Amino acid sequence: MFNKIFNTLFILLIFVFVSSCQHKQIEKMPDIKAFNHSFSNYDSINLEHIYLDLAVDFNKKELHGKAILEINNTSQCKFLILDTKQLSIEDVKLEDSVSTAWSLGEEDKILGQALVIELSSTTKKVAIYYHTSPDAEALMWLAPEQTLGGKYPFLFTQSQAILARTWVPCMDAPAVRFTYSADITCDKNYLPLMSASNNFKKNPEGRYHFEMPQPIPSYLLALAVGNIEFRRLGENCGVFAEPEMLEKAANEFVDLPKMIKAASGLYGDYAWGRYDILVLPPSFPFGGMENPRLTFATPTIIAGDKSLVSLVAHELAHSWSGNLVTNRTWDDFWLNEGFTVYFEDRIMEHIYGKKYADLLMQLSVGELHATLDDMMQSAPGDTKLKLNLKGRNPDDGVSDIAYVKGAMFLKYLENLYGRKVFDDFLNAYFNHFKWKTVTTEEFIEYFQNHMSKWPKVKPDLDEWIYQVGLPKNCPSIGSTEIKRLDEMVNKINQSKEVKLIDTTGFTTQHWMHLLRTLNADSITTIMTQIDTTYHLSESTNSEIQCDWYVLCIKNNYKAALPYMEQYLMTVGRRKFLIPIYEQLSATPEGLKLAQSIYNKAKKGYHSVSRNTIEEMLLKDTKH
Ligand code: BES
Ligand code: ZN
Repeated sequence: MFNKIFNTLFILLIFVFVSSCQHKQIEKMPDIKAFNHSFSNYDSINLEHIYLDLAVDFNKKELHGKAILEINNTSQCKFLILDTKQLSIEDVKLEDSVSTAWSLGEEDKILGQALVIELSSTTKKVAIYYHTSPDAEALMWLAPEQTLGGKYPFLFTQSQAILARTWVPCMDAPAVRFTYSADITCDKNYLPLMSASNNFKKNPEGRYHFEMPQPIPSYLLALAVGNIEFRRLGENCGVFAEPEMLEKAANEFVDLPKMIKAASGLYGDYAWGRYDILVLPPSFPFGGMENPRLTFATPTIIAGDKSLVSLVAHELAHSWSGNLVTNRTWDDFWLNEGFTVYFEDRIMEHIYGKKYADLLMQLSVGELHATLDDMMQSAPGDTKLKLNLKGRNPDDGVSDIAYVKGAMFLKYLENLYGRKVFDDFLNAYFNHFKWKTVTTEEFIEYFQNHMSKWPKVKPDLDEWIYQVGLPKNCPSIGSTEIKRLDEMVNKINQSKEVKLIDTTGFTTQHWMHLLRTLNADSITTIMTQIDTTYHLSESTNSEIQCDWYVLCIKNNYKAALPYMEQYLMTVGRRKFLIPIYEQLSATPEGLKLAQSIYNKAKKGYHSVSRNTIEEMLLKDTKH
């Protein structure tokens, strides 16, 4: 008898416990449709502010805590639909106090899962308690040995294009702007930084507050945590890095105050208060990321001679094109990147002169031609400026088309109208669309309305934007340095005499062009000579190394292979990894080497880089 009561009580207790863990599910789910790579119902509900209260756990490789979303639901929608991917949702509370029903939608490999939350008619705030997964795509957790100092771990995020949803439940579409604030808790050995107002020193409590009062799209949400220190470079700018890198980085970026001044002089006041750069460990998969107030940058641009700082000009330019005036959808990506490459070129010209800016631009145009040769065969549709990425990963739209074809389109317009008129237009454009998002079609309409004063000039907008390939009227840069190099390389290719290389005034980019134009099938003999004279295999300049190693693989120059392997083991920047792994994969022997190096190196690569390389290596084994 007693036993029976005890058993019943026990079962009852378990029942109470289990049901308290289970949340209320949505009874009848609304229709969930993906629109511009987002499941969220941003058309019906305005997301105004996100407050994050997150703790950083390096042992578990997770962020945990809550996100409180402030919404304006004027159309009285019954549900709030958010984007999530790889997130573990623990609880959802309206006004951070009242439990409500919520459910996750079906999983999509690219887009993740919709989080559907039932609202009351007066809901203003929704609190979501959650933690991230150790392999959340936006988060890169580095072990101490993957950092320069080697003592402390490091964490950084990469939210563009649609990875913010792997660390913050949100409306993850560039069309949605919101302000944010955050409290981040971490061990007292680390300094956390965000794309917001930052703290410059560690504090013993290990709790840090952040404010981003200017509205931003989710792809600009960013966090980095590590043993980081700050060095001032100017009144409103400076650099953050691991202490071992700080001095070098500060020297490399001394021109930063000049760049900010040049950029503001061209297209209007800098809108974000401070502009700082964070130099990340080498596994950062990109060259740079324009997180507002705090550009993230790869250490591979620290060449020691400032020869790769155009990347800083690029990320700074995004403070106008991209961050202030944002592409509405990823199909309009060229509005972010094409404008930025054009703007970057103008900053470089202003500070370092036209000769150097032209050399940089013509090098990029060379890359564009190579990309076009390839894409006109494999994916001609993707050579249009206006993309169609429906059902695909927006990463597929990241190519020289948006960047360089986009910039050359603007150069074409500049040539047509003259610099003064075109600059006036760009100023008006940035001013008109600031804090907003813009589509390609809105750009065209705005352009036509503003430029109709010049009736004789009729630019072919349609061909540039909606047709494949590069229009015949694409201007040529006519770089005098490239001309000088081409003449030099012609002579070398004919005579195979290395002593004809005249390195007077050579910069990194001169080497790059030279290596790209040497005649591949006759240079094996010259390569040994070049290497003994200029020690390119042992170079520490990431751009020269990349071009040199590709050339070495192509021509079976084996002496460089150990250096190449070392490079692949340390550098995680996708732009450098792709051409090397691709070139290696061209022969069965090379593919084997690529696979064995990749297996050793992959733990130091970000998922963004890993995904691309794995696709490549896998494709090659299928053949
Ligand atoms: N915003 C991009 C990086 C990006 C684009 C990340 C799309 C994810 C998806 C950044 O501004 C950029 O363009 N970086 C370039 C450098 C630049 C100098 C061309 C890079 O990382 O190579
Ligand atoms: Zn960019």
